[in-house]
Amino acid sequence: MSATEASAPGKIILFGEHAVVYGRPALAAPVTEVRASAIVEDSLASGIRLKAPDLRRDYWMREAKEGDPFARAVQLVLDAAKLLSTPDLTITVQSTIPIASGLGSGAAMAAAVIRALASHLGNVQLATDEQVSALTYQVEQLLHGTPSGIDNTVVSFERPVYFVRRQPQNVIETLSVPEPLRFLVADTGKASPTKLVVGDVRHRWKAERERFERLFDSCGRVAMAARRAIEQGDTARLGSLMVENQAYLRELTVSSASLETLIAAAKDAGALGAKLSGAGRGGNMIALVTESGEEAVRRALYTAGAQNVLSSIVT
Ligand code: PMV
Repeated sequence: MSATEASAPGKIILFGEHAVVYGRPALAAPVTEVRASAIVEDSLASGIRLKAPDLRRDYWMREAKEGDPFARAVQLVLDAAKLLSTPDLTITVQSTIPIASGLGSGAAMAAAVIRALASHLGNVQLATDEQVSALTYQVEQLLHGTPSGIDNTVVSFERPVYFVRRQPQNVIETLSVPEPLRFLVADTGKASPTKLVVGDVRHRWKAERERFERLFDSCGRVAMAARRAIEQGDTARLGSLMVENQAYLRELTVSSASLETLIAAAKDAGALGAKLSGAGRGGNMIALVTESGEEAVRRALYTAGAQNVLSSIVT
């Protein structure tokens, strides 16, 4: 009886969320301090048993509800592997990534399951970063409707990326980070389902197309400038670009009172820059800090009501 394990990190969007859905560039990085992992084990019972103890779930794949993302991830691998019969397996997924808060927990769980199962089946081609990312994207479509593809890319490749959604192929370039970047990731404690926020932005874009297109252009310009600042190790400039991006996100209506409170607290405590990260209207914000300034910002974030503050170093 053999077992195969794989894992995938959380992620933060550094620049360009929402605008990325509309073809503008965005930057994102893995958060390796939190992870989802999947273990695939051979089983004596017939069929595939899915277990997610964190979510108190334990069920047979054949009984999974329509649209179950865990079952969908497994089915995608089985279909792509073109097996003649369903293997007898137990697949357990666990995660330390907070759910529905912009840290890519859904994508990471899917990527971990897909990579572990593909490896367990001995299908080396399906277990490559590219294939794991492509299949994870299909699970994301179930969760998000119109995902840009940035989440599955970052959690599968586990590298900081410059990303542009394009047909027929997305632009994915690894960022070089000469100076490690230190972020605090603070949770407002308010869950915010990405699908709803992305859908609402689309609705507003349809009603005010020109204004939203201009805002998306501005987000895209900031993302490109941020890439240069990262590659030149210019953290002061990077911080001010975060502040600028946040101003556009506010105009896109995806900020919230609790995000603004945390962002202001971080800046007042000496962060180089701060903005929401991910879909917004709740979830997480990120603050760029120096090593010596980190503790003061962390304390300020908790005092301002953060439910949890993670430290993440992007290299
Ligand atoms: O909420 P998250 O972290 O999954 O981020 C969503 C990012 C968006 O740009 C809002 C949507 C997308 O698919 O890129």
